[in-house]
Amino acid sequence: MSRLNPREALEVSPFDTGVFSWKMRIRAIQENHWLQIDDGREEDLLEKKKGPVGIHLPGSETASLTLLKTIEYWLIERSISLPVIDDSLHPIDQCGRLIQEDVCLMERISDSWLLTAGSVCFPTHWDPTSKLGLSLDDIHSPVPRYNADLLPRPSNFMDRISDEMLVARTGWSLTACGELPLDRDHKIVQSDPSKLIVRVERQTLRKVPNSKAIAFTIRIHRWPLEVIKNDFALAKDLVGALQALPEEVKGYKTETSELSQRVQKYLSNTK
Ligand code: HEM
Repeated sequence: MSRLNPREALEVSPFDTGVFSWKMRIRAIQENHWLQIDDGREEDLLEKKKGPVGIHLPGSETASLTLLKTIEYWLIERSISLPVIDDSLHPIDQCGRLIQEDVCLMERISDSWLLTAGSVCFPTHWDPTSKLGLSLDDIHSPVPRYNADLLPRPSNFMDRISDEMLVARTGWSLTACGELPLDRDHKIVQSDPSKLIVRVERQTLRKVPNSKAIAFTIRIHRWPLEVIKNDFALAKDLVGALQALPEEVKGYKTETSELSQRVQKYLSNTK
């Protein structure tokens, strides 16, 4: 087993073509596909040890601990080894150190879904600390068209997540940087377009048992553009998605927008 390729990692194409609109694009997934393990596990878990990761509000321990037990049980049931982890760490921090995914805990408090804890080591251009304690809508305040496009509201969808539900969605961007964490301003110049990175977030949502909390996981996949080019359907979808990006979204996905023309040219060149 090597690192997962796009067809192994994703149930559907991550690129939405046609007239642009943010969409929920939620799909039901099987229990076996909640978390993803591949040959990069050791390297990714080592990378997680480098940074400060856990953020948490007082009161988030109980649901975080239940989530930790849920993850441990899921791994043990599949005969996947558990790394030794300092059990004095906050349970959300322990969750993050068991799996390649980043993980956020959303709790339903006073009619809102709030980010109460998270282990986010590999953010895609966002600062987890600044989002702690914010509601789902406020977390998304930098995202243009979020309020207009996503109706009914994602928070209403969160209300409807039942104990049995397990769902996934994806987001994507282009970057010249192959690192897992993209929290800093990185000015990397990549002269070879085939090595530019298509970065896909596979996100999952599920209830934490016996709680008013939802676990939101984010798995980062990074594929050099040549991998996408070798998959004709994905390459076509990516070109379509780039062509459909409206100006206001280009202003938000700045690196994607900067690389867009080069990427389209490379993917459209059949030689
Ligand atoms: C429930 C369904 C959700 C939907 C439909 C949704 C949708 C989106 C969309 C459309 C974006 C714009 C970026 C992109 O896709 O390229 C985004 C960004 C983001 N989402 Fe969500 N999201 C959801 C859940 C969550 C949850 C539970 C969290 C919890 C932490 C979260 C955290 C973020 C963050 C931090 C960003 C980046 C915001 C920034 O640029 O500051 N999302 N989301």
